[in-house]
Amino acid sequence: MSQALELGRHEFQAYKGRRKVTVVGAGNVGATCAQELARRDYADVVLVDIKEGLPQGKALDINQSGSVLGYEANVSGSNGYEETAGSDVVVVTAGLPRSPGMSRDDLVTTNENIVKSVTEAAVAASPDAIIVVVSNPLDAMCHVAKNVSRWPKERVFGMAGILDTARFSAFIAWETGASVKDVTAMVLGGHGDQMVPVVSATTVGGVPLRNLVDDDRIEAMVERTRTGGGEIVNLLGTSAWYAPGAAAAQMVDAIMLDEKRVLPCTALLEGEYGIDGLYMGVPVKVGAGGIEQIVELGLSGEEQRAFEQSADAVREVVSVLSTS
Ligand code: LAC
Repeated sequence: MSQALELGRHEFQAYKGRRKVTVVGAGNVGATCAQELARRDYADVVLVDIKEGLPQGKALDINQSGSVLGYEANVSGSNGYEETAGSDVVVVTAGLPRSPGMSRDDLVTTNENIVKSVTEAAVAASPDAIIVVVSNPLDAMCHVAKNVSRWPKERVFGMAGILDTARFSAFIAWETGASVKDVTAMVLGGHGDQMVPVVSATTVGGVPLRNLVDDDRIEAMVERTRTGGGEIVNLLGTSAWYAPGAAAAQMVDAIMLDEKRVLPCTALLEGEYGIDGLYMGVPVKVGAGGIEQIVELGLSGEEQRAFEQSADAVREVVSVLSTS
């Protein structure tokens, strides 16, 4: 009998060792992501924050939910990085969220310093990890994580497109009365008000959106998607967290389970979509190696122009960064 079979289940897991995901930032987005990941039950989760007691308290609460929800993942909280050593994935959510009246770009200098210091510490502890950036302004913070880590672009990328696409898909489901499961949509570009919902690639049950909904209603949904983060900030006084946390967890799934999902993520473009040296949201194939392929959609002329305008907006924010 093999050694594994002689052991009970828990001993086997201890013997085998669980894989590990670190979530930096125990605010609303980080804690939601940690909770989503714990429920998946494929890895232990370490929640890190500089605020004493916060990651420990939230980790305990999430851990204790396992008894009710039926998962065994260990969730621990820490103010340092020792416990994060050897993580497979590091999700960076640290930084200030938006307040009403603020754009994501208003956060750039404060969050650059935060993302810089957490990336330095996280990559030192987990030199073989993959970084998923969630902090805003997202596209610029991907540049910071890339510049600080000096890791290959395949292992440093950001979460925005899944969230923006989720919002667009929800609006389409409500408009058409269809199940959101039957909506296939794609929102690309920067994670700002110039983002590009790709209507030409959007279908409901395989039927093109343009065959189902009038142009002016589509335009209203596109506009609501572009300002969808701000709509929630105005209601809550702070940024959204349920959909952002779930979206980041979906990216972690694709990496940890080597799913080869094609997901809209913020990737470093080097010529794709006519853009060079800039992080932008595009469809990518995500698996154990991180970004395994950048998928080039054929955009309509209007969509390509909108993508380039979005790139100009991202470039402007990236130009104020001091990390290079
Ligand atoms: C949003 C923030 C998290 O779009 O960027 O809700």
